[in-house]
Amino acid sequence: MVQDRLIEWYRWEARDLPWRRTRDPYWILVSEVMLQQTQAERVIPYYERFLARFPTIESLARASVAEVISLWGGLGYNRRAVYLWRAAREVIERYGGRIPKDRRELQRLPGVGRYTAGAVVCFAFREPVAFWDTNIARVLTRIFLGPEARPSCRELEKLAESVLPRDRAYEWNQALMELGARVCLARRPRCGDCPVRELCRSVGTTGEHRRRSERFTGSRRYYRGRIVAVLRRRWGGMRLEELGRALREDYTPAHREWLEQLVGDLAREGLVEVAEDRGDYMVRLPGSGEGGQGAETGRR
Ligand code: ADE
Repeated sequence: MVQDRLIEWYRWEARDLPWRRTRDPYWILVSEVMLQQTQAERVIPYYERFLARFPTIESLARASVAEVISLWGGLGYNRRAVYLWRAAREVIERYGGRIPKDRRELQRLPGVGRYTAGAVVCFAFREPVAFWDTNIARVLTRIFLGPEARPSCRELEKLAESVLPRDRAYEWNQALMELGARVCLARRPRCGDCPVRELCRSVGTTGEHRRRSERFTGSRRYYRGRIVAVLRRRWGGMRLEELGRALREDYTPAHREWLEQLVGDLAREGLVEVAEDRGDYMVRLPGSGEGGQGAETGRR
């Protein structure tokens, strides 16, 4: 059976990742949020640093969001840090500091979607739940449906559910991720190394031919990350024009509208704070002003 073979392989081959050594739901939640867009090897140093500073959900909830974003620095998609901090505060306020065991309750927390809620319930509370992200979806589709299949979200949901070995859900879900990360790669699957190649409907077929990824440098996401990186080094914030010049050498007043839009979006998401100051705008990480208070959030 696919399940037996894959789990057996996982027992021998699993990487020793720090979040596989804990059952603490908060530690698992932090790992899953970090892993949402970032590869495991890159996450490890950030994960260890983050938990050394914020070992409990209380310590995270008590911190300023500026410090949390600061510590997140370099991982990218900084919004995740703000959501995680907000989630910590909600867990303290609404659940007395205990992360809920219920998937639906978990999904009500900021930044926690169906996938993350499923992963926390399975990996921390060891409940037999199925969930999928792009990697798990690719692996399940290839093994059970074949190279041409394009299942809908609903169909993936059902597939994940139907193949879940309920008595070994933790290992099965970890094993799917492990296979997706190391063998069943998107573009060049390494079928020769696969423990389930004899049972796979897609064995030997080539991977996805994806369109070339859009250029990152110069993209909106690039500049969003740059803004936070620049402000991290400038406690107390900076004026909009100054920020513009720090971001790009070719900055001119014609870029002002573009910059206001980027900053406005970041402010609405809680990643930066904008305060009116003598006809201009000061931008800073939330809670990092000299007084810390009184800054208006959002744009005009
Ligand atoms: N990606 C998301 N969750 C993961 C996990 N628990 N192990 C490895 N990679 C992951």
